[in-house]
Amino acid sequence: MAKLIMVSNRLPVVFGADSAVTRTAGGLVSALKGAGLDCEQLWVGWTGAADEDLENPEVVRASARREGFVPVFLNRDDIASFYEGYANATLWPLLHYMVERATFSKDWWNAYQRVNGKFAEAIMEVADDGDLVWIHDYHLFLLPALLRGRKQGLRVGFFLHTPFCSSEIFRVLPERVPLLEGVLGADVIGFHTYNYLRHFRSSLLRVIGLETETEGMWHNGREIRLGVYPIGHDHAGFDHAMRRDDFPEILARHRADLGGKRLILNVERLDYTKGLPEKLAAMRKFLEQNPDKRADVLFVLVAVPSRQGVQEYDALTEQVQREVGAINGEFGRMGHAPVQLLHRSFPLEDLAAFYALAEVCLVTPLRDGMNLVAKEFVDCQHEELAVRPGVLILSEFAGAAQELSHALQVNPHDVDDVVAAIGRALEMPDDERRLRIGMMQERLRKQDCSVWARRFLRELGEVPARNERVPVMEMQPLAAMLAAQVQAGRKLGLFLDYDGTLRGFVDVPDDAVPDAELRPLLADLASCDHVFLAVVSGRAPYFLEQHLGGLGVTLVAEHGYQWLDGGKGEWALFNAVNNEWKSAVREHLEQTSLLTPGTHVEEKQSALVWHYRQADPEFGLWRARGLMHELTALAANLPVVVHHGQKMVEVSSLLVSKGEAVRFLIRHQGCDIALAAGDDATDETMIALEPDGVEFISVRIGTGSTRARYRTDLTGMRMLLTELRSALKSRTGPNEVGA
Ligand code: UDP
Ligand code: G6P
Repeated sequence: MAKLIMVSNRLPVVFGADSAVTRTAGGLVSALKGAGLDCEQLWVGWTGAADEDLENPEVVRASARREGFVPVFLNRDDIASFYEGYANATLWPLLHYMVERATFSKDWWNAYQRVNGKFAEAIMEVADDGDLVWIHDYHLFLLPALLRGRKQGLRVGFFLHTPFCSSEIFRVLPERVPLLEGVLGADVIGFHTYNYLRHFRSSLLRVIGLETETEGMWHNGREIRLGVYPIGHDHAGFDHAMRRDDFPEILARHRADLGGKRLILNVERLDYTKGLPEKLAAMRKFLEQNPDKRADVLFVLVAVPSRQGVQEYDALTEQVQREVGAINGEFGRMGHAPVQLLHRSFPLEDLAAFYALAEVCLVTPLRDGMNLVAKEFVDCQHEELAVRPGVLILSEFAGAAQELSHALQVNPHDVDDVVAAIGRALEMPDDERRLRIGMMQERLRKQDCSVWARRFLRELGEVPARNERVPVMEMQPLAAMLAAQVQAGRKLGLFLDYDGTLRGFVDVPDDAVPDAELRPLLADLASCDHVFLAVVSGRAPYFLEQHLGGLGVTLVAEHGYQWLDGGKGEWALFNAVNNEWKSAVREHLEQTSLLTPGTHVEEKQSALVWHYRQADPEFGLWRARGLMHELTALAANLPVVVHHGQKMVEVSSLLVSKGEAVRFLIRHQGCDIALAAGDDATDETMIALEPDGVEFISVRIGTGSTRARYRTDLTGMRMLLTELRSALKSRTGPNEVGA
């Protein structure tokens, strides 16, 4: 049975004396516990200590393995360059839009690659065919690609717990290309919010030119799924903590400490993304503007030490300590300091008590992937435990803001906005507080971390089934089968689209000439007995004849308008077509072209095409959609079809289609078996054929909905043709295959 291998930078454990392993509580651990998985689980991650400080790594390994953990060992240099360096001083600030805090170093990058490699090796030691591997977070962007192809049927998921920044920021990274290619090794890639997914897609487009759909993409012969899976908090964990026998005592202790003050709570790792200095500025201003409240309120800042050793974090700690002292110096009085900094971490039951007692929870990160504190606070609100229901003030830059719309949302950069929200929260009537909290609680309790884990793992578990819906074409068996049919004297027709099927796209369409291999490959195949080969393209006749003429390959131009038998002689029409509609359409295309830099209109005999491959990709697409809208209305009265293809909008005669052309040629050539392959909607007319008495095989290149029997990509298609040539050669002998 397949097992689940979780992978994160840190293991959710602490190693005590004699390497004894204690599991730490945390969202991910609880998520899995609640996900109801009945398969074996392993967790791969760093021990949290430097090798040099471990007395005996083998003892650590053995005791970790007994508990289902697979330790990855990092030495001091790895920690400094990979963890503190590339992960937390390059990627972390950049993903959170803090370019000026990001530091770039080749040594760090080398360490990042090296450590991702260490993780890959640790996984390979425990992974079996068909296992599920779920990789977490920005420390391990390269890992999915490092695992690809190393075990049969391994399914790899990647989830990013931070924001994914806009492509304009991501582009700044010197290593942007390998990082994206690394993640693309995964089968499912998940984000907390749609915005992060959108930014990831635009980075793929702008950095590596990869076009995707919201649901995913077809890349290097595989489907990759993209998805939005907002993580939930550990509802069960908090619920359990609040039901403990000693919880009333814990609560009473903290309530007594409050001494009747109104608690304004803040819980976070001491991290510059959380906006603590900005929050302190708001507190200062609030105290300044509300002298009557100074003695009433207590701002408690639980600031958990984090990433100590990274310069930015150490500087922040000092800055916060200084500012808290200054505020208390200015606004405190004997026996009461309005701001209390608790620079340590607390167990769950204490946190639950803080949340329950807080009248206001101030969650104002400058950027945050999700922010679980906001969700935990809402969940821990129980009317019987507190004087009044609590109010959540939440930064609009936290992922959680998308779900928690009943919080008071603020812009954390706008001090006045935060100050006003604190005032509004303190004044808010109980009914309104109750209503807001109730609405949020209902949602959160249904969407806790176990629901999140189940959703992601379900998607990951479906990877093979999904691929089976349109199976990935296996080249060798298919080539062998086709060759055997030919050998048995049956006639094979190959009907191949050109752009996107035999040749990749380039910026200038005329530059997409056949590469050195393609011409002899097609010529070889076309010269075999019982093989008929046609290139069925949307291109104009001149281009096809110039580059593919004289090879014995039949050419079909303009989506089935005309053809050149055997690639020489005179072009013939499939059908007589009236092209008088063109003047009405031309004007629209030319107007759009004028308004959109990098686009042009191509005139074919039976079609007009507006190309936008050289335009800004998003601008071009937006214009194309507008044009489609206009043309669809216009075309209602004309004998034309309008189609949005790969970076172009084409208007062509209704009577012309690749499908009809191929149907004609199959009959004309007396084919017994035929294979049609293409990559866009015009090719679907041939892919959807069901010719009588002919064994028909259809192949879609790339993504997009299709009726094809198989799917592959350009490389796969080329491989099929090459395999077929070799299979025919080995069966018929070299002399019978043309040069
Ligand atoms: N937390 C904790 N002990 C503390 C303070 C916080 O265990 O003393 C936990 C808190 O319950 C929350 C997590 O730390 O689950 C912080 O997660 P969040 O998503 O808010 O921010 P992150 O630290 O992941 O950036
Ligand atoms: C964020 C990251 C996690 C990380 C956590 C604590 O939530 O997304 O991957 O584990 O912070 O940071 P640390 O560096 O202490 O592991």
